[in-house]
Amino acid sequence: MKRPIIAGNWKMNNTNAGTKALLTELVPLVKDAKCEVVVCVPFTDIDTARKAIRGSNIKLGAQNVHWAPKGAFTGEISAEMLRELKVEYVLIGHSERRQYFGETDESVNARVKAAIDGGLKPIICVGETLEERESGKTAEVVIRQINGAFKDIEKYDLKKIVVAYEPVWAIGTGKTATAQDANDTIAVIRKALRKLYGKTAANAMRIQYGGSMNAKNADELMSMKEIDGGLIGGASLKAADFARVVNYQEIQ
Ligand code: PGA
Repeated sequence: MKRPIIAGNWKMNNTNAGTKALLTELVPLVKDAKCEVVVCVPFTDIDTARKAIRGSNIKLGAQNVHWAPKGAFTGEISAEMLRELKVEYVLIGHSERRQYFGETDESVNARVKAAIDGGLKPIICVGETLEERESGKTAEVVIRQINGAFKDIEKYDLKKIVVAYEPVWAIGTGKTATAQDANDTIAVIRKALRKLYGKTAANAMRIQYGGSMNAKNADELMSMKEIDGGLIGGASLKAADFARVVNYQEIQ
């Protein structure tokens, strides 16, 4: 049985004081969660977060990792640096990184390899823009992103990898893909993975939905067959809201 995974993506929010307050409130609220719970915090909050979640079921995640193990890359952070701080998961290829920081399928792939080599578990983000969706290119775009991200990634590494499907037009906009649309596109992503790695490996992979997922729509989204978790932005910044998503109820 696959264990669903729900991760908060704090983006560029919370200083150390806010991190401590939010996580101290969150720990007891999610202690009985059936799913795996992750918080992806800014680099500067990692150490505070690590202390605040110590002994709890919450796992630590970062929001990016550099593709080189070390060297002359001013301003960058390596996998080894993150592992040293007990980071377990790392977001790679978030649409905001693709949109504002020149992230490409090639750089995503290089970061995925560096993360795996460095002992981190990548959460690879894919998703189409509104323009791509409206011109009927959703499947083409997510298949291209999947093929790019997984280039030369070995089958035995798949169990360390999570995919997040985040339609760009649904991120931070309050517009959620309908549960059916999200499910259908995730099925397309899984089919692309099946083509690369075979049925058993692809079926075992966890694929999250992300994009305005919140306390109100989590139950419905999490009840869909293809959806194995969520990547939560805005709603992860309030402990009660995030806890409600994590403690979702399956609709029969
Ligand atoms: P949102 O962000 O939940 O605020 O839409 C999701 C994400 O960007 O990971």
